[in-house]
Amino acid sequence: MSFTVAIDGPAAAGKGTISKAVAAHFGFAHLDTGLLYRAVGAGMLAGGDPVVVAQGLDPADLDADALRSAEVAQAASEVAVNPEVRDALTAFQRGFAARPEGAVLDGRDIGTVICPGAQVKLFVTASAACRAERRFKELQAKGSETTLDAVLADVQARDTRDAGRSTAPLAAAADAVLIDTSDMSIAQAVAQAVALIENAQKTLRG
Ligand code: C5P
Repeated sequence: MSFTVAIDGPAAAGKGTISKAVAAHFGFAHLDTGLLYRAVGAGMLAGGDPVVVAQGLDPADLDADALRSAEVAQAASEVAVNPEVRDALTAFQRGFAARPEGAVLDGRDIGTVICPGAQVKLFVTASAACRAERRFKELQAKGSETTLDAVLADVQARDTRDAGRSTAPLAAAADAVLIDTSDMSIAQAVAQAVALIENAQKTLRG
């Protein structure tokens, strides 16, 4: 039987960091589902029709570094409101979740829509101010000249759109465990996630 960990939450809450660490710890495959939406957003910015881009997307082709800009993030959240775009990306995500070695998927609707039967569901969050500051530092380290205020405005605009859309809005599944990383170190957040997964594995083994 496959073992799936669903990690959802708003932008820059630490989902990616926790997901990568958990995947490395347990030997699970990891899919950052935001990259799929970012690739469709980038395709739209290049003049493509988002639905056609989503339907033709080859996830093996994604260049994560090229998709990390704030402009592409906003475009991703714009195309992500379209149910046809979301539908086109569903089968790949579900297939990935069934990988025999186990899988961690991070995104916005993994525990609610893509993998409602996931064995572990986490909702990783942090205050908007913390999230903006972390993202600002990341962007600064990459040489970006953006300001903290601009990053905060971007993060909030994206959260509002992601939580307010009618199809698959950003939301914690009823059975998700909330991890608020505002006052946690990366190591503490990862340790909490690892412990929750170990518990679920023990329960399954009986
Ligand atoms: O996670 P990331 O910030 O890369 O996601 C970019 C955008 O893609 C999000 O703001 C959201 O609009 C969209 N997204 C989504 N569902 C997912 C993952 C990402 O709608 N599962």
